[in-house]
Amino acid sequence: MACNLIPKRAYWVAFIYTVLVSHACNGFYLSENYMHTYSTGEEIYAKVNSLTSIYTVLPFSYYSLPYCKPHMGIKKSAENLGQLLMGDQILNSPDRFRLNVNESVFLCTTSPLSEHEVKLLKQRTRDLYQVNMILDNLPAMRFAQQNGIKIQWTGFPVGYALPNSNEV
Ligand SMILES: *[C@@H]1O[C@H](CO)[C@@H](O)[C@H](O)[C@H]1NC(C)=O
Repeated sequence: MACNLIPKRAYWVAFIYTVLVSHACNGFYLSENYMHTYSTGEEIYAKVNSLTSIYTVLPFSYYSLPYCKPHMGIKKSAENLGQLLMGDQILNSPDRFRLNVNESVFLCTTSPLSEHEVKLLKQRTRDLYQVNMILDNLPAMRFAQQNGIKIQWTGFPVGYALPNSNEV
């Protein structure tokens, strides 16, 4: 009888552990526990996650590239253990959206790029790095048409290399 109980308990411990760990790995960052209903025109500021690449495993901080920075300074969002293990680094950004409004606005500008910054942008483009934005705690999606097929992907490339060119 006692011999039967031990493996069962071990099984439950393993089960609970699996549920907790897999939950932490798949979970999104949720800063608020309540639902927020947005009204039309309401402002949503995007957050930015680390720059990632399928080509290299090393993530870089978003502001390691010369992107426009928030006026109020760069602030870190709290990360959970799963996000830390995945190399996430969630920061605020000056990119502002309005719910259900199409608009193009320039909220900030960057100073002219230095030679080093240009080289860095080219390198990250060559290494297929992509920008990962977060809107309302969800990853921003990119919709694209490729050879007549509609593709959906999280994130967008740092840059594109022109076809038949060594330049990026
Ligand atoms: C915004 O633009 C897209 C693409 O042109 C269009 O499908 C959509 O209806 C527009 N939305 C609003 C609220 O104007």
